[in-house]
Amino acid sequence: MASRNPLKRKASSKKETKSIIQPEEWFNKTYSLDHYLDVFTALAIWGEDLGHKLESCIYPGSYIHVVPSLIFPETVYVDMFKGKQNHVEKFFSLENRPQLLKMLQPQSKVAAPNIRFHQVDLTAKESDGSLSLAKLEQPKDVLVSLSASGEIPITCFDLVRDGGFFVGNDDFGDASLAKGNPDMWTFIGAFEQDGLCTDNLAAYFVTSKSTTPDFTKNSGLSYSQRPFPCTKNAKAYLYQKNCLPQDQ
Ligand SMILES: C[S@@+](CC[C@H](N)C(=O)[O-])C[C@H]1O[C@@H](n2cnc3c(N)ncnc32)[C@H](O)[C@@H]1O
Repeated sequence: MASRNPLKRKASSKKETKSIIQPEEWFNKTYSLDHYLDVFTALAIWGEDLGHKLESCIYPGSYIHVVPSLIFPETVYVDMFKGKQNHVEKFFSLENRPQLLKMLQPQSKVAAPNIRFHQVDLTAKESDGSLSLAKLEQPKDVLVSLSASGEIPITCFDLVRDGGFFVGNDDFGDASLAKGNPDMWTFIGAFEQDGLCTDNLAAYFVTSKSTTPDFTKNSGLSYSQRPFPCTKNAKAYLYQKNCLPQDQ
């Protein structure tokens, strides 16, 4: 009969426990649940007051910043990063979903948030075998882009319904990308410490340059490096997607 060594058993179960990724543990390494919660809350209050549908959200370059799921019933997170032990995918896995929901629950405004995650390189080409997000997801009410910069928010511009919204900060020029695409986006609000400001928007995106700024050139650059620095900066900005004229 094989002898059972309890010490050995203990050692192996300790190893197993360590290999399990605890969503809350990973989340707390980088974030707290109030990271940008004021912005999403102000947006939800404003949307409710004005009767805007703000139920679904897509968040490219999200890493594991799941705070939008405290507010939006459906959020699709997208990031290419794998990290240690592929912890990003494990963080969002269905296996870990009960712990993730338990972490959100005390502060959540949503009873059972629908959370999906795609581990996708948003700049990769479909012809190179990469997944096309447009084939996986329908257009959403809100696009969130925080410190992602470059092409990342642009890759998801078409994944917002006409009349939907873009919430972006400008730490790496995400909001500047929308400002530089006025055919698609109308600038309608700035998130300040005391909430969403929809008046006096002419005070934002003002530069000291005499030339007409191409704000898209700010993308990927921190405030001190950009060619078109603005005299007043908000925590984040709100845009509405222009409705395309209907075919006659
Ligand atoms: C600076 S982090 C910002 C994370 C989060 N939005 C926040 O505000 O804390 C930028 C994120 O974009 C992701 N990212 C960069 N290039 C990407 C790409 N081509 N496709 C998908 N995700 C990308 C990175 O993996 C990283 O997690």
